[in-house]
Amino acid sequence: INSNEVRQVMSSYWMDHSKDASLEEMMLDTQAESLAQSEHPEILSLLPPYEGKRIIELGAGIGRFTGVLAKKASHVTAVDFMESFIKKNKDANSHHKNVDFKQADVTVLKCPEKSFDLVFSNWLMMYLTNEEVLALARNMLSWLKEDGFVFFRESCFHQS
Ligand SMILES: C[S@@+](CC[C@H](N)C(=O)[O-])C[C@H]1O[C@@H](n2cnc3c(N)ncnc32)[C@H](O)[C@@H]1O
Repeated sequence: INSNEVRQVMSSYWMDHSKDASLEEMMLDTQAESLAQSEHPEILSLLPPYEGKRIIELGAGIGRFTGVLAKKASHVTAVDFMESFIKKNKDANSHHKNVDFKQADVTVLKCPEKSFDLVFSNWLMMYLTNEEVLALARNMLSWLKEDGFVFFRESCFHQS
């Protein structure tokens, strides 16, 4: 299976899992609501200070973090490749005037160099191949300003 086929498989996987754009569907978990509530504060507590900073959020989904980040950040770019997730995120968070919503696949995303203080992602890299993660890592570093941070979090049932 070549890299184009991987992209097709992954995007049709998320097409199937974004039909309702519900929390349960996006988190692939029937207990999503309680899981979301318990992990939210923990995740946010691990972030470097981001008051007044420029953030890009990759694989933002329906925007569980977008609005929270937007309250303190100077600007948030929320990226996801599923139209229905972006729409749901917009419905929830477009009252924050400092958020841009961008429908794009992160594996082909282009951003200006040194344009963000923080790259944030939660449960994204596990849907990319090793090669895609490597290429994205290079890109993320180029998008960061000096002294910027990359934050990513993944969950694995099995060691990987
Ligand atoms: C498990 S959800 C997590 C969503 C959100 N980060 C959260 O924690 O609530 C994974 C998200 O990554 C998005 N995604 C997966 N692969 C992507 C890609 N290559 N480019 C952009 N978004 C992607 C999916 O559409 C989905 O919204």
